[in-house]
Amino acid sequence: MRHPLSTPFRPQARFVGARARMGAIAMAAGLMLMSGTSQAAEVEVLHYWTSGGEAKSAQVLKEMLEKKGDTWKDFAVAGGGGENAMTALKTRVISGNPPAAAQIKGPAIQEWGDEGVLVSVDDVAKREGWDKLLPTQISSIMKYKGQYVAAPVNVHRVNWLWINADALKKVNAQPPVTWDDFFKTAEALQKAGITPVAIGGQSWQDAETFETVALGVGGAAFYKKAFVQLDEATLKGPTMVKALATFKKIKQYTDKGQTGRDWNMATGMVITGQAAMQFMGDWAKGEFTVANKAPDKDYLCVPGPGSQNAYTFNVDSFAFFKVKNPDVEKGQKDLASLLLSPEFQEIFNLNKGSIPVRQGMDLSKFDACAQKSEADFKNAQAKGTLVPSWAHDMVIKPAVEGAFYDVIGHYWNDDSETAQQAADKLAAASKTN
Ligand code: GAL
Repeated sequence: MRHPLSTPFRPQARFVGARARMGAIAMAAGLMLMSGTSQAAEVEVLHYWTSGGEAKSAQVLKEMLEKKGDTWKDFAVAGGGGENAMTALKTRVISGNPPAAAQIKGPAIQEWGDEGVLVSVDDVAKREGWDKLLPTQISSIMKYKGQYVAAPVNVHRVNWLWINADALKKVNAQPPVTWDDFFKTAEALQKAGITPVAIGGQSWQDAETFETVALGVGGAAFYKKAFVQLDEATLKGPTMVKALATFKKIKQYTDKGQTGRDWNMATGMVITGQAAMQFMGDWAKGEFTVANKAPDKDYLCVPGPGSQNAYTFNVDSFAFFKVKNPDVEKGQKDLASLLLSPEFQEIFNLNKGSIPVRQGMDLSKFDACAQKSEADFKNAQAKGTLVPSWAHDMVIKPAVEGAFYDVIGHYWNDDSETAQQAADKLAAASKTN
């Protein structure tokens, strides 16, 4: 599958019968100059933050941008993980009318850069010293040909397991550390009439769960060989087969109503105690927070079994697009500057469930899960066990990622497929163009 933007970028003809209108525009411009007012920039922002916790976080961004005198034009496209949003973005760019900024991340930033549609905000980055504020693994993703074209907002950890504390108490269990513990607890929960694992049947959720299982079963070195280097022998080797079999074993502990369920609905099942556990990145914490639930009391956040020493990172970012209206540039720069500011980093991440991407921030207002995330991030960075989330667009190019989604989703749903067959398909999918 070639990147859908292979269609050449063709700005649409704009001057349709313009003669008559020119006079009026010139007059309006003259009036503006005379009165000394400059038009507030309208900044259209594409994002996919529509769940409770996400929408609250997006609202923070809108309000802070408007305080700078710009107008926020909301371009929210529902759908966790952003697949729908990416389709909407492609349509808009191909028609020559991109939004001013869009929530994209990882290698997709480079692909958009290759299309020549991104705009540099390097002057803001230089002025504010972004190179010093960001870990290099992250700043390099934000640059195209050495210039910042995107700004990161957070660090989400993906390899988490969220647990309803009461449900765990009911079966007298401790948070699972190993996969054996996990399946024992799942068995006990099922006997007690509680759905052990909440999951939404969408391909990105299957992929994310599998990613966490693979890290827990195989460790960080295996994960990197398979999902960063796309090493064929590792993709179809015995550790991958074991990871796939472990992933499939979880299915018997999930409910029948999962098809098409959104991730936040699955989180809702854990919040209410209808289900006991969910594998999900820490945007799930945003939902617990909105529901006024407290960590270590109402719910627990623990790394996925076997993945205690590793950290799967997922960094949200906004890339800036070339737009026709030059006024928008001011708004784009305001937005770029805002995203990395300490004030925004704190309040946004408190709502979003993530931790600040800006280094050196004081985290005293953050809860125990965020503090653990920060400590584990540093530890993983030092030990070389910090790995990018492939299920969340951080490392593999979109075409291969999509092919992996298909393999994992199919394997989860088709009980006749063996783990070895799925592993062979993963190795083949890694060659997708
Ligand atoms: C991720 C994104 C997060 C979160 C999640 C669910 O891809 O990075 O910010 O919103 O999807 O929508």
